[in-house]
Amino acid sequence: MANSPTLTPVTSPWMHDLMRENHLLYELLEKHGSPINIHYMDAMDQNFLSFQQVFEEVGIKYKMFFARKANKTKAAVSKASELGMGIDTASYQEYIQCIEMGINPSDLIITAAVKTRELVEKAVLNGSVLLIDNEDECDLVQEMAVKVNREAKIGFRLSGFFFKERKLNSRFGFDLLEIDRFVTKNFLQSKKYSQLLYKGLHFHLNGYSTEERAYALAQTLAFAQLLAKKGLRTEFIDIGGGFLVNYLQDKIEWDYFNLSLRKAISGIIPPITYNNDGLGLELYGGILHGELKTYPFWNTQPKESFLRQILSHKNQKQQTLAEVAAQEEIEIRMEPGRSMLDQTGLTLARVAFRKRDSIGDWLVGLEMNMTQMLSGSADFLLDPYVLYQRKEEGEPVEVFFTGAYCLERDILLKRKIRLPKLPHIGDMVVFVNTAGYMMHFFESSAHLFPLATNLIWNRETKNNGIEIAHFQNDEDL
Ligand SMILES: Cc1ncc(COP(=O)(O)O)c(C=O)c1O
Repeated sequence: MANSPTLTPVTSPWMHDLMRENHLLYELLEKHGSPINIHYMDAMDQNFLSFQQVFEEVGIKYKMFFARKANKTKAAVSKASELGMGIDTASYQEYIQCIEMGINPSDLIITAAVKTRELVEKAVLNGSVLLIDNEDECDLVQEMAVKVNREAKIGFRLSGFFFKERKLNSRFGFDLLEIDRFVTKNFLQSKKYSQLLYKGLHFHLNGYSTEERAYALAQTLAFAQLLAKKGLRTEFIDIGGGFLVNYLQDKIEWDYFNLSLRKAISGIIPPITYNNDGLGLELYGGILHGELKTYPFWNTQPKESFLRQILSHKNQKQQTLAEVAAQEEIEIRMEPGRSMLDQTGLTLARVAFRKRDSIGDWLVGLEMNMTQMLSGSADFLLDPYVLYQRKEEGEPVEVFFTGAYCLERDILLKRKIRLPKLPHIGDMVVFVNTAGYMMHFFESSAHLFPLATNLIWNRETKNNGIEIAHFQNDEDL
């Protein structure tokens, strides 16, 4: 048998405590159907504290907003709020749910890519900050503010930053070269937007470069200084989300996987992915092209070190960006989504069948589909756990996990996974650290399959016993 590389995930003790109680997990699957997502929200504490520590170290005013789009549960919102975070909302539904949950509107911001009239009206009435993307939105907010006879608090989303002679293009936000003219013309030289109250600036960059974010923050701070000279004070700069998470235990495994993938695509070793998918790499004329298009599942700059790198970046005057923010009395805000959810979730699914496909590979069919654990990148690269119900010995085996959609591409993990033995029908597969984008962002209910139930584990701290009654359906919160 070929040796497909393993990628051992970073896990938390709570996950192993649960996996040891596998009879209970089976009961939950029986009760709620497959798959289910289990959330342990106390894991958010550590994520929050790691960011907080950096802000405290550099001594600036700050506020964190949980990017709610990363996870659909109410429990995540409640936990973020308990931690003192605001909530970044991306739709009318997200916004209204937060209001109904009793979150103070001044702790809500709206970054929705499309802001409907009803969303804008509610936000203006409640006094939440709207982060504006374009001139049409400014017109809409002004119209709604006039209608409800209130001032609307706004910030501008910026993009088009310069990074080493290159412009960072984005479909979002006002271009950095245009915003000065726009603000000067419409906010300083005329009363076109008389009902709009300028509060701050915002950006959110694609990708995971701390350097690009530092350049963007430096340019945004410089723009805030320019506005201050013109008499417009910037209260906050919001640097968005995208803070890295390190998902894997071992750099050696990561390097070995990268090397093996290259060898497999080049035909030197047997495929380690379904249909020899290069996950971004391709072979033309005997030469490998492209690059791995997955999330950097192994990295050395997660969470707090990512933030520290941005804030300690020095501008041309050799001041750190934190020092500039402090000097200008600008609050630095951020909108972490995925990174706030590190170590908070598991996805469990039941084995429906095992078979060999036409080229002899083992396929293990699960009662779930690809949208219920879909990474925005080329694949989710963490080895799952299998909870076997039978004790009998077996031979090691390599398998692909397949899903319930009638699509050839419904392969849950594109990587071939090495297991100690072939699972039986009814055994359970546990995908760890799927909280956030992996379990919720793309989930759909084609073929009328229901969406997965989200359970919240309210762990009893007194006797540490784990009981089925401690798992609450998020819908009932
Ligand atoms: C405007 C904005 N803020 C915050 C986030 C959260 O990003 P992440 O979950 O990578 O931290 C996103 C994600 O797309 C976003 O679009």
